[in-house]
Amino acid sequence: MNCCSHLLRHSSTLSPLLLFSAASLFFTAASAFGINYGQIANNLPHPESVVPLVKSIGVTRVKLYDADPRVLKAFANSGVEFIVGVGNEYLSKVRDPKQAQAWVKTNVQPYLPATKITCITLGNEVLTLNDSALSADLLPAMEGIHSALVSLNLDKQVTVTTSHNLAILEVSYPPSAGAFRSDLKQKLACILDFHCKVGSPFSINAYPYFAYKANPKQVPLDFVLFESRSASVDQVSALHYDNMFHAQIDATYSAIERLGYKNVCLQVSETGWPSKGDADEAGATPENARKYNGNLIKLISQKKGTPMRPNLDLDVHVFALFNENQKPGPTSERNFGLFKPDGTPVYNLGFNAKGLLSTNTTGSGGGGGSGSGATSSGPPPAVTGTSSDAYLSITADDAERLPLQGALSILSVMISAIILVSQL
Ligand SMILES: *[C@@H]1O[C@H](CO)[C@@H](O)[C@H](O)[C@H]1NC(C)=O
Ligand SMILES: *[C@@H]1O[C@H](CO)[C@@H](O)[C@H](O)[C@H]1NC(C)=O
Repeated sequence: MNCCSHLLRHSSTLSPLLLFSAASLFFTAASAFGINYGQIANNLPHPESVVPLVKSIGVTRVKLYDADPRVLKAFANSGVEFIVGVGNEYLSKVRDPKQAQAWVKTNVQPYLPATKITCITLGNEVLTLNDSALSADLLPAMEGIHSALVSLNLDKQVTVTTSHNLAILEVSYPPSAGAFRSDLKQKLACILDFHCKVGSPFSINAYPYFAYKANPKQVPLDFVLFESRSASVDQVSALHYDNMFHAQIDATYSAIERLGYKNVCLQVSETGWPSKGDADEAGATPENARKYNGNLIKLISQKKGTPMRPNLDLDVHVFALFNENQKPGPTSERNFGLFKPDGTPVYNLGFNAKGLLSTNTTGSGGGGGSGSGATSSGPPPAVTGTSSDAYLSITADDAERLPLQGALSILSVMISAIILVSQL
């Protein structure tokens, strides 16, 4: 939330505000990250008992795929912010202003202000489903919900967004060359206009894991797990990248700028790593999930931006809170969670009693985690397909098309392979 207010801090000179936040960071290195609370399962604990669990790990924002009243009631007066979702299957309805208003009156207004709902996300990964009717409903649905918020005088406290699969990118390497799929540019420009107009963030689901899974022989594991000892240099921007997550985000910033939008801010609506997978799902282990999520949360708590936006405090939502036993797809999909349904960690992320990650993790970053995962998108009822196969990956053709300009290091080439969007 307030993504755009972060722009105030995006300045090339150190402002007093920045110094102040740096100082407060020094004293309270809380890992202020968000988490996705997916519920495609039949064995999850009652929301009342999820409140202390969420608070124990220092989570400040929870993202739902619907507007489950049990959850919204349970978290009243908890101080936790909420992003609620309107599933893909409802987009055609809420583009009608009357239905949009009814949705907000039923699913948002009654819970305010006790439950801090700060954002409504419309649909999940809609544009990459290539369903033209659904894609045509997306922006009108976002506008419909926003207008309803305006008429109920809630638009100052609740913003509107939609989460995109990173496969909206056609070019993702080097990050400075990031560009959207040409057939989606027009729709994305209209969505970016909307974000500028209402001041809401552009949201992406970014999964270095899927790039690794698609090409474990070429993608360096340490680069996707934030443990690379060397960095790859983007020859155009001269910026150094030592992890794929930042490269994916900056490629998205470049794509946005390429369409002429300079001040739209980005949030990561989903990212994560599974603790378990099928035999052909390389890297899906508790140890890798612990490293990915642990290193990610540390990075977030340091409030480091990306090489392109070093001063922007990026909102990141880890996927997911629980392993979800009813998610369709490969085993990894059911194993992205930090917690098992009984509330015990799937792996030890090293949270202490105050929800802070222990700083005593010699070398290997993070902590432990468990991973249960649902796919990156998945509104509980009527999921319109899982998007897990649409993440970044590479094909042999992609590799051959890489522009080998100048003296790209071997690592750079591997990185470009990693973050190219596959033409699945
Ligand atoms: C850090 O962790 C190691 C291994 O778990 C332990 O032996 C050591 O005492 C810890 N150090 C501190 C300062 O807590
Ligand atoms: C959607 O269309 C794009 C561009 O034509 C294609 O590359 C991609 O594989 C398609 N995705 C799906 C899920 O059909």
